[in-house]
Amino acid sequence: MTSQKASARAHTNIALIKYWGKKDQQLILPMNGSLSLTLDHFYTDTTVEFNSAFTEDTFYLNQKKLDAIKVSPFLDLVRQLNPQAGYAHVISKNHVPNAAGLASSASAFAALALAASTAAGLKLSRRDLSRLARRGSGSATRSIYGGFVEWLPGTSDQDSYAVPIDEKVDWDIEMLAIIIDRKQKKVSSREGMQRVVATSPFYPAWVKSTNTDLIAAVKAVKQHNLKLLGQLAESNALRMHALNLSARPPFSYFEPQSLVAMNIIEKLRSQGVCCYYTLDAGPNVKVICSTAESRQIISALSAAFAPEQIIEAFPGPGAKLIEC
Ligand code: PMV
Repeated sequence: MTSQKASARAHTNIALIKYWGKKDQQLILPMNGSLSLTLDHFYTDTTVEFNSAFTEDTFYLNQKKLDAIKVSPFLDLVRQLNPQAGYAHVISKNHVPNAAGLASSASAFAALALAASTAAGLKLSRRDLSRLARRGSGSATRSIYGGFVEWLPGTSDQDSYAVPIDEKVDWDIEMLAIIIDRKQKKVSSREGMQRVVATSPFYPAWVKSTNTDLIAAVKAVKQHNLKLLGQLAESNALRMHALNLSARPPFSYFEPQSLVAMNIIEKLRSQGVCCYYTLDAGPNVKVICSTAESRQIISALSAAFAPEQIIEAFPGPGAKLIEC
C-alpha cells in the first residue's frame, strides 16, 4: 500500500434508554442494551489517509493539531484487520454548533470507523462497522445507523453491535437540545460508569429495570407512541442520574439551569403538552416532542434560555462515505 484515502460523515445520537456501565472495559461491552435516536443536526466529517511514507499518526480536529492518544489505538484495530496499512493522517471536523456537552464521541468514532476501514481497503458490513466503532466509544456503536437504533449488549466482541429499529423515521418526533454548559465534563463518562458499577448499591436494580424499559421502548417506537417513549426515556434518564447520586463518592451532572429546563418541561406537560426530557453525562437537557408542538415548547423555554441555547434537531441518517 502506498497511499489510500477516504472520508466519512456520521451523526451523533442521543440515548433514550441509556448505556451506563461496562462489563468489559477493554472490549467496551455494556451491562445492558440501549436505544437511541440519531440526529440530523450534529455530525462529524473525518478524512483518513494511510500512507507508507508517514512516520507517525497525526490528528487534526477543527483545524487544530491534537495528540493522537485516542485515535492511534483505534487505528491499531484497523491495522490488525489490514497489517499492510501504515501510519495515518486523520482530519476531523465536528459540526456540533455549541461544541462540548453533546455526545461528539459517538459521531467521531463512527465516522473514524467508516473512513479508516475504507481507506485501509476493508469493506466492512454495517454490523462489523458498528462493532469496530464500539471499540472507540460505546455510544458510537449506534451512530452507524440512522433513526432509532438498538445496541444489543452481547457477551463478546462478536455479538455486541447495533441494529436499526426504525431507520427512516416517518412519524412526528424531534428533539430540542438545550445547551446549558460548553465546558468539559466534570466526571468523564468512563469514570462515571466505573464508579457507579463499583459502588452504587442500586446498580443491579438499574440493569434489571433498564432491560424491561428497553423492551417497552422498542415497542413504543414500533407503535409510533411518542407519549410512552417519552415517559420511558425520562424515567430511565432519571434512574441513571440517581445512580450517580448513590455512588461513593457521589457525583451529579445537573446544573441549576438543568433543573430550570426540567421544571419548564414538567409544567408544560401538566398543561397537556406531550414533551419529555433526557440528560446524559453533562448538564444539557434534550427534549423529546413532536414538531406539531415544538413552537409552543420553544416559546416556553425562551423565558429562561437565549435563542442560541435552544437547537432543534430531527431524526438523522446513518454513517456514510463522502467526497474527500
Ligand atoms: O460511550 P460514551 O463514553 O459516549 O458514553 C455514553 C453514555 C451516555 O451518553 C450517558 C448514555 C448513552 O447510552 O449514550
